Amino acid sequence: MRGPFQSAGLGYWVDSKCAGRGLASATVQALVETARDELGLHRIEASTLLDNVGSQRVLQKAGFQQIGMAPRYLQIAGKWQDHNLYQIVLHD
Ligand SMILES: CC(C)(COP(=O)(O)OP(=O)(O)OC[C@H]1O[C@@H](n2cnc3c(N)ncnc32)[C@H](O)[C@@H]1OP(=O)(O)O)[C@@H](O)C(=O)NCCC(=O)NCCS
Repeated sequence: MRGPFQSAGLGYWVDSKCAGRGLASATVQALVETARDELGLHRIEASTLLDNVGSQRVLQKAGFQQIGMAPRYLQIAGKWQDHNLYQIVLHD
């Protein structure tokens, strides 16, 4: 019997020397397929800084939708910073 959560949190970082080659997009899209088809998860959540347009694009291309904005969500570079929240629902 599966529990009520069945979610995963997703985070990623691409070495700046390799940025802009589609690595994050390909990896996130592959992870979505694995989470859905092999792990049977219900959803994946992720968050980005408000100005991280590249990461937002990665998530949107993989089918994530923005579900809100969390004030002072994570401590980045020593400061508690607002984040956009995203999710993808994998099964009905
Ligand atoms: C954000 C990050 C993961 C993107 O990785 P990447 O492998 O360069 O991403 P991709 O090559 O798959 O590009 C994804 C899309 O974002 C766009 N993009 C990437 N960086 C961008 C930027 N700084 N501004 C605007 N668009 C950007 C690309 O043009 C591409 O869009 P397209 O497919 O429509 O052309 C990478 O830059 C990174 O690791 N940054 C530092 C850590 C970080 O921010 N992690 C995510 C935390 S939420």
